Amino acid sequence: MPPDDAASTSRPPERVTTVTLAKMAAARQPLAMLTAYDFPTAQMLDAAGVDCLLVGDSLAMVVQGHETTLPVTLDQMIYHAEMVGRAARRALVVVDLPFPEGQLSIDRTLTSAARILKETRCQAVKLEGGAEQAERIAALATAGIPVMAHVGLRPQSVHVEGGYRVQRDEPQLLADAAAAAEAGAFAMVIECVSAKIVQRIRETVTIPTIGIGAGPDVDGQVLVTHDLLGMTAGYLPRFVKQYGNLREGISSAVAQYVDEVRSGAYPDATHYFR
Ligand code: KIV
Repeated sequence: MPPDDAASTSRPPERVTTVTLAKMAAARQPLAMLTAYDFPTAQMLDAAGVDCLLVGDSLAMVVQGHETTLPVTLDQMIYHAEMVGRAARRALVVVDLPFPEGQLSIDRTLTSAARILKETRCQAVKLEGGAEQAERIAALATAGIPVMAHVGLRPQSVHVEGGYRVQRDEPQLLADAAAAAEAGAFAMVIECVSAKIVQRIRETVTIPTIGIGAGPDVDGQVLVTHDLLGMTAGYLPRFVKQYGNLREGISSAVAQYVDEVRSGAYPDATHYFR
């Protein structure tokens, strides 16, 4: 192999940055984003070409087993983000500001977001909210902390909203998206909003939009990895497409192991040292 080629194969992949996301969106190149909470999963997703990894506060539900995203703490988010940050070579890694780090004082938000960037290798934070969060988004952007906004359904407000619902207040959604973009968010997640309203949002907002339950007219899609891989037990929202059934695969592999340990079939002569 000529020396140049040898060098190029060992070079790490070019890192996706906030600027890359904007360029991809401008070039109408769809962005693929997924959640990740640990090192091996993040490594697999990154190697498979996911552009953006989200250390979502959904980890409270899918990893910790809580009913909402509210219980996960900043220290726990940092613990998981550190693993994901260490695994990702190409993807941009975004970390959710967990409740109530994005709801208390702006100083507290800045301190928490700065901790995330300093203590993990992650590059940006995500903050739920639109117009009411504009000042906070501007403060983060001014401090040099890239912030992804999150409008539409805001899971951290589940107790105010009385549940998880499709968001239908078009004037409010348009105002939220415009305010977040104007305040300096580099991109925004739009969750559970009808495709028609999303089209209206995109007429006024130029930053990359990443949808979850927001239809096809966005710059990218995001899903919770455990949902997509079929690892979630019970109810799945309509917008989830299951690309695998790891729950079944893991259960049947483990059941076979238990059977073989009980029957003595494992370990056989090839699995131990004489
Ligand atoms: O926490 C999370 O996983 C999220 C996505 C659903 C966008 O915020």
